[in-house]
Amino acid sequence: MRSRSLNCITFPHLCLFLVTPHLMLAVGTAVIGSLQFGYNTGVINAPQNIIESFYNETWSSRFSEPISQGTLTGLWSLSVAIFSVGGMFGSSSVGFFVNRFGRKNSMLMANVLVFIAAAFMGFSKLAASFEMLIIGRFIVGLYSGLSTGFVPIYVEEISPTSLRGALGTLHQLGVVIGILMAQIFGMESIMGNASLWPLLLAFTLLPAVLQCVLLPLCPESPRYLLINRNEESKARSILVKLRGTDNVAEDMQEMKEESQQMMREKTVTIPELFRSPVYRQPIFVAVMMQLSQQLSGINAVFYYSTRIFERAGVSQPVYATIGAGVVNTAFTVVSLFVVERVGRRPLHLTGLMGMAVSAVLLTVAMALLDQLRWMSYISIVAIFSFVAFFEIGPGPIPWFIVAELFSQGPRPAAIAVAGFSNWSANFLVGMCFPYVEQVCGPYVFVIFTILLIGFFTFTYFKVPETKGLTFDEISAGFRRSAVIKTDGLTDDFLGSHGLRL
Ligand SMILES: *[C@@H]1O[C@H](CO)[C@@H](O)[C@H](O)[C@H]1NC(C)=O
Repeated sequence: MRSRSLNCITFPHLCLFLVTPHLMLAVGTAVIGSLQFGYNTGVINAPQNIIESFYNETWSSRFSEPISQGTLTGLWSLSVAIFSVGGMFGSSSVGFFVNRFGRKNSMLMANVLVFIAAAFMGFSKLAASFEMLIIGRFIVGLYSGLSTGFVPIYVEEISPTSLRGALGTLHQLGVVIGILMAQIFGMESIMGNASLWPLLLAFTLLPAVLQCVLLPLCPESPRYLLINRNEESKARSILVKLRGTDNVAEDMQEMKEESQQMMREKTVTIPELFRSPVYRQPIFVAVMMQLSQQLSGINAVFYYSTRIFERAGVSQPVYATIGAGVVNTAFTVVSLFVVERVGRRPLHLTGLMGMAVSAVLLTVAMALLDQLRWMSYISIVAIFSFVAFFEIGPGPIPWFIVAELFSQGPRPAAIAVAGFSNWSANFLVGMCFPYVEQVCGPYVFVIFTILLIGFFTFTYFKVPETKGLTFDEISAGFRRSAVIKTDGLTDDFLGSHGLRL
């Protein structure tokens, strides 16, 4: 009846019968965690001016002197970027939690962080304390780091093989919808005003409550029960509910095979990953891919687009920010259909080049603004296409490639290293962008253009195509390039010829 190679993105009508109410409830509940990450990424964008005034007033009343521009920029960048420091710690602890407490309980427990964070952020105005807002941002970052690990693991483990790709993309969709939601709620007429902004930040509480109510109705991951806890009959009865059929022998067999494979293939630690010549080149590629995602400047847009549009002479910057969120969501949906069919390399290269061109366009528009007022429309177009190209390549592809470059044994360590690099670069952009913008003015996106072209070149020469290849074939490609290198050929040759067979 059921074919393993069935692709549910290409043939959705063939797979709908696999989506049982139980599975739908479990996936839907988990994806609330993705929504939370998106919401907290986008929430500080629209109300920047209003919260900055609050910082200014608080400072004046506390020290009876106005805040200096430098201090204000510093405090605001910290409030934005400390989210990624939390994310860094959170994403490093995912493995510990899911294996110690299980997938479902980890997701449930993490919500405690949201309650604490929402309280800190929601009462910061009442307490006249920007420190509380900064602490809240750190804690909700911690949650986001955990959550972006928990959700994909849980969703993948409860989904039937043929639906894994399709349901896995719901995480990505949850993130971008969360960003869009935050941008809409941030409109002045909704919650982005001087009296309601604490509610805007504390709103993250509601999805957390909803998830806490629904999670107890969801099953634990059968894979966790079978492999980590050795509770076979419990795993089977959960599978029967999730699949809506008594015939789950095939799934059980698959999980057992996987567990045997895990026992054969020894887990690789992070230091081993860097020491072993087999993994050194793939991990370098994996880290560079993550850096290409974050140093593309995408979060300069998601964190600061309202300010960017304001500088570009747009009269309704918050609406333009919401427009960017809509484009982001639309192109995420487009990429869901494209990613499964097209190779990773062409998509990533197209995305990087498109972003570089958009960044040049934005720079030109901002530089000419004083002469030509209509250039503000060109900046809107430039930012929209910047975001669209991001979702075609640098958004989804780095995570695909990391998972595809490593087999079971080294994969957890590789994903941990990739996550750490990703959040670090995210922090760097969030923290430095406002300063660099003050120094460079309209030319700030030139820096991202240079980085984007650098990553384009790297991808062209060094990143192998991984779609449809087995781990053995991919690592053979890397080994071959290492051998050729000792024969005295250039690296460029290796990248373009050795790896793209
Ligand atoms: C702080 O507020 C005062 C009074 O409204 C204003 O004059 C000053 O420019 C503000 N400072 C900054 C750095 O925005």
